[in-house]
Amino acid sequence: MMQRRTLLKRLAGLLMGAMGAVLATPAVLYLLDPLRRLRGKQPGVPALPVARLDQLPDLDRGEAPLRQSVVARDVRDAWTRFPEVRQGSVWVYRRGDQVFCLSTVCPHAGCSVDYDEQQRRFVCPCHRSTFSLDGKRQDGPSPRDMDSLEVQVRQGQVFCRYQRFRLATASKEAI
Ligand code: FES
Repeated sequence: MMQRRTLLKRLAGLLMGAMGAVLATPAVLYLLDPLRRLRGKQPGVPALPVARLDQLPDLDRGEAPLRQSVVARDVRDAWTRFPEVRQGSVWVYRRGDQVFCLSTVCPHAGCSVDYDEQQRRFVCPCHRSTFSLDGKRQDGPSPRDMDSLEVQVRQGQVFCRYQRFRLATASKEAI
């Protein structure tokens, strides 16, 4: 009699465990699904639109560069979707046929580089590093040129691959 009761208890325990597992499985799969979808996807560095080609100032004609925010749209992590995420800002312009896209982040300590219209050069307000119209280092403590970003022009739209680089190093190292 005792053995039968023990057996029934064990069977009931097994049954409850099996039912719990059946009920929990969809919830666990639901929670893990975003991770499964992200697996193997490398985010990479997307080319983001910054301006229309016909908007670009031409520095060789005495115009001033355009400072533009770089915004990624429809960014998703495993569980959340963000309609817009600001990545940073860039100086974008042309010199004749050549299109330039320079990060506004100063390579010295990360301040935001301005454009000096009188001197026609880029100047960092923090420690007075100066850069030519092509972003080449002229004076000051910056250890390298302004960080140029890869540019693409497609169907009249200018795209930049916005990246951040290690500060205070002579070489340009993406982080
Ligand atoms: S942060 Fe630009 S010169 Fe120091």
